[in-house]
Amino acid sequence: MKISVVGAGQVGSTAALMMAQRELGDIVLLDIPEVGGMPQGKALDMSEAAPIQGFDSRLRGGTDPAIIADSDIVVVTSGVPRKPGMSRMDLLTTNASIVQSVTRNIVQHAPNAIILIVTNPLDVMCYVALKTSGFPPPRVFGQAGVLDSARFRYFIAEELQVSVEDVQAMVLGGHGDSMVPLPAYSTVSGIPVTHLIPKERLDQLIQRTRDGGAEIVNLLKTGSAFYAPGAAVCEMVEAVVRNKRRLLPATCFLQGEFGLRDVYLGVPAILGRRGVERIVEIPLTDEAKAALFRSAAEVQEGQKAWENFGSS
Ligand SMILES: NC(=O)c1ccc[n+]([C@@H]2O[C@H](COP(=O)([O-])OP(=O)(O)OC[C@H]3O[C@@H](n4cnc5c(N)ncnc54)[C@H](O)[C@@H]3O)[C@@H](O)[C@H]2O)c1
Repeated sequence: MKISVVGAGQVGSTAALMMAQRELGDIVLLDIPEVGGMPQGKALDMSEAAPIQGFDSRLRGGTDPAIIADSDIVVVTSGVPRKPGMSRMDLLTTNASIVQSVTRNIVQHAPNAIILIVTNPLDVMCYVALKTSGFPPPRVFGQAGVLDSARFRYFIAEELQVSVEDVQAMVLGGHGDSMVPLPAYSTVSGIPVTHLIPKERLDQLIQRTRDGGAEIVNLLKTGSAFYAPGAAVCEMVEAVVRNKRRLLPATCFLQGEFGLRDVYLGVPAILGRRGVERIVEIPLTDEAKAALFRSAAEVQEGQKAWENFGSS
């Protein structure tokens, strides 16, 4: 398997190291010429960790887009991250043009690849990649829900003082303030969290999950989260390259599912060798459904803004 990571910054390089440690395939790190030997340097540094950690994945870095040739999967993390006070939508104009040019390179050099988008604003960037590539929707999807769910899982585990291993959670919707954590589908070893945590406290954990990205941006000051996002990417890539058919929240192009059409949104999906193998529709409370629709409207606005101003 050949896995390319476009954007060798914080998220890209963290994901690359984690994927190498799991021996998911041979990994290529691509960045722009302006960063000099940065992708080569990071790839070499990680390769020199291999004998200590005992992994045989090969890592290579460069600035010539041709190095992604014939990749099975391309992870797109190129783009600017948020600074304090910025929303993910503030990144739209800059990152849309970056994602568009990266997608054109993918079409040219890796026409059969699966594209996993990470760049924010995530849902709209998935749409940019879909429309620019002309790839079928199952081959273009995004990472958001695995990270958002992981944050919720961590907060639940901390609250109950139980192992994170036993906590499952589902967070749907757009990757932003309109995300929709679903307590009814969040459990500790099968026990719904609604039975274990009083509603008022659960609402606080849900709000902290929604603000999870901003909490880290405000602490770091110079950029956004990358360890947990890197781990989330690694988990999704593993599902694809090992054809695991994991059921994970993924940002998928909806074509009627959940009553929504032509919009990217986080939904439960089965991920395997062909990308999104299936979107899994689940019954939602009226409240969750309304929140999902609000989230979709926000994403659709971003998609439309890009079509009007940036898609040429
Ligand atoms: N979806 C998520 O859950 C999630 C989580 C964290 C961060 N993000 C987003 O991921 C993106 C990357 O974040 P980061 O912290 O790694 O930023 P970063 O600044 O550390 O890295 C971005 C890299 O992209 C490179 N780049 C820019 N244009 C490029 C191009 N045309 N081709 C190749 N590389 C290019 C930059 O040189 C830089 O090295 C941001 O948009 C951020 O908001 C998303």
